[in-house]
Amino acid sequence: MRIDIISLFPDFVAQCAAFGVVGRAVERGLLSVHGFNPRDYAEGNYRRVDDRPFGGGPGMVMLVDPLRASLRAAREADPTPAKVVYMSPQGAPLTQAKVRELAGRERLILLCGRYEGIDERLIQAEVDEEISIGDYVLSGGELAAAVIVDAVARLREGVLGDAESAVQDSFEGGLLDCPHYTRPVEHELGTVPEVLMSGNHAEIAKWRRMQSLGRTWQRRPDLLDEAALSKADRKLLDAYRAALVAREAAGTVSEPAADAPEAP
Ligand code: ADE
Repeated sequence: MRIDIISLFPDFVAQCAAFGVVGRAVERGLLSVHGFNPRDYAEGNYRRVDDRPFGGGPGMVMLVDPLRASLRAAREADPTPAKVVYMSPQGAPLTQAKVRELAGRERLILLCGRYEGIDERLIQAEVDEEISIGDYVLSGGELAAAVIVDAVARLREGVLGDAESAVQDSFEGGLLDCPHYTRPVEHELGTVPEVLMSGNHAEIAKWRRMQSLGRTWQRRPDLLDEAALSKADRKLLDAYRAALVAREAAGTVSEPAADAPEAP
């Protein structure tokens, strides 16, 4: 997979892609990340990339032409058709489903704005999709692009080893992930749930599913509304809630149910 980053700070995103799982994917040739700086394609002595907004107001707006020339250069660098994504707080919220869709492509071009944004005409003419990584405003799209590179790379074939499989991740399957434990079994901060050491794989899978359901119910009930729960899931969730009530009564609960709704 090839991801091109159009940014005034292309090295920023490239640096993010140099570490950990993504760095390994790049080293192994499963992913390449290339930067294109609109300043390199700007005209004049000052290589201007922005100007004041028509209609007045604060801030600056990125010019069409340096961005367009950067896009052209990225497209010419590799003929594989690319989806052009503009990182913007006005975009559709990034979800794991969207990450999966992006990871299914061979080529992405991520466009990062700075200042007040980029000239709307460039968005209309060149951008296939606008994506936001959350309801807050960053000073530029680079961190958002780095988020996409990371989330997409780890879903590509061969990037994660079996031991790191993405199948169990939070949001895969529409639920949050279950808790995880490792050695030592006994620690001053607590002990490991016994079932995890039972060697009984069916019971372990059941416990994990129950934890996923329970956590999602407690922390992200909005996700539970969307998840297609089986009858067995509902029973597990009931059991989780019953255990929670019992622990609450005993005064040993560590995570309040806050405003969690009734189980479906
Ligand atoms: N650029 C600035 N803020 C952003 C956000 N929340 N998501 C994506 N790109 C952005």
